[in-house]
Amino acid sequence: MNRIINIALLGFGTVGAGVIKILTTNSDKITPKIGAVVNVKKILVRNPQKVRDIKFDGEITTDFEEILNDKDINIVVEVMGGEHPAKEYILRALQAGKNVITANKDVVAKYGKELFEAAEEPNVDLMFEASVGGGIPIIRPLKQCLAANEITEVMGIVNGTTNYMLTKMTNEKIDFADVLAEAQSQGYAESDPTADVGGFDAARKIAILSSIAFGTRISLDDVYVEGITKISSQDIEYATELGYVIKLLAIAREDENGIDVRVHPAFVPSTHPLATVSDVFNAIYVRGDAVGETMFYGRGAGQLPTASAITADIIDVARNTMHNVNGRILCTCFEEKKLCNINNTQSPYYIRILVDDKPGVLAAIAGAFGAQQVSLNSVIQKRRVNHCAEIVLITYNVTEANVRLALNTIKGMSVVNEVENVIRVVS
Ligand code: NAP
Ligand code: HSE
Repeated sequence: MNRIINIALLGFGTVGAGVIKILTTNSDKITPKIGAVVNVKKILVRNPQKVRDIKFDGEITTDFEEILNDKDINIVVEVMGGEHPAKEYILRALQAGKNVITANKDVVAKYGKELFEAAEEPNVDLMFEASVGGGIPIIRPLKQCLAANEITEVMGIVNGTTNYMLTKMTNEKIDFADVLAEAQSQGYAESDPTADVGGFDAARKIAILSSIAFGTRISLDDVYVEGITKISSQDIEYATELGYVIKLLAIAREDENGIDVRVHPAFVPSTHPLATVSDVFNAIYVRGDAVGETMFYGRGAGQLPTASAITADIIDVARNTMHNVNGRILCTCFEEKKLCNINNTQSPYYIRILVDDKPGVLAAIAGAFGAQQVSLNSVIQKRRVNHCAEIVLITYNVTEANVRLALNTIKGMSVVNEVENVIRVVS
């Protein structure tokens, strides 16, 4: 007779239902890996009357205390989302000596320190593989497989919704507003898409990854964030012409200037491995001093990919329970480190400006860049728009502060109608 490991889910939505599906469908594969049967004893929901499209024989409850006080349950899986009460439930479950698995990037990014500390004294696990990259293994690789390395860079596409939108804008020449409406109708983008298109979902994910990679606490406020709302079909067209694709990148680098963590759209050379990551797929590139370059690729969201990562966490914790050990890796934020302000970062830039179409304008603009040591790699006059000329410039690798100073001057020129977009280029 196999031993039974009882667990509870907090949430029976997209991901919770996916966990039930995997535990049911693959039970014959999972049980021998643990040496015990995983039994979902209770599920916490908001609305017990809701018709669920998946069969569940255990108890449905709306009372968290029922799960907290159930001595048979030693693994709590939080898949309800949102900051509150998810954070309080996770905290109380840990304090009650239960192992916790969560997919909640909002809670991990904001309250990770407090939760890790809470797991120490009761000696329980807190696992969160699904919180970044959905089904892609990335937390475990960073914490374990690459632990011997000094990590210098983590860069990736970690938001599926925006990658889907940018892919559609590139391949089908659809405008931002139309592609957003389509992403919503396909169920990729939330009805309130702010966190995705504004870059905040990606920012929470890179805060989590960079905290692990660099061994210091990086909070959401430490991440410089720009979303994709200003990307137009014109930018996409020029990127293609110049041999680039536009991607929303999450970037974290450590060098002698400190840790530089940011999320923004970027021109990625079409030959770069991240350029071929399309639709809702995610990819995370990690560079370590010993291993060199590695890349992790797959489905960054969705019911079964996300539930795959959660169920793997369940298997790990259940296996440890069987051996009376835990697999807890203590909080990896060992020291405080200096952050690098965005003004001190360097990059080439794509800049699109609408100017009066008359003699001397290009020279005046070039002069304003030159005065701030911003060296231009190429200047192309594109189309005419209402008696104005559209100019596209690509700079060499220059400092952000200098670009901003030059653009301030340029915006004040009477011959300049608008600085339409400024996008960093991956070199
Ligand atoms: P969802 O479909 O909205 O499901 C949420 C579930 O939690 C529902 O069953 C809901 O109950 C329950 N719930 C919410 N608030 C509650 C409360 N206060 N008390 C009791 N139950 C409550 O969400 P999801 O898409 O499965 O996402 C779950 C988590 O996974 C989130 O943290 C999300 O960021 C993360 N995640 C999701 C994906 C994805 O592709 N969906 C990918 C990666 C990570 P009712 O059913 O009664 O309403
Ligand atoms: N909204 C996220 C995305 C999925 O589009 O990638 C959940 O992490």
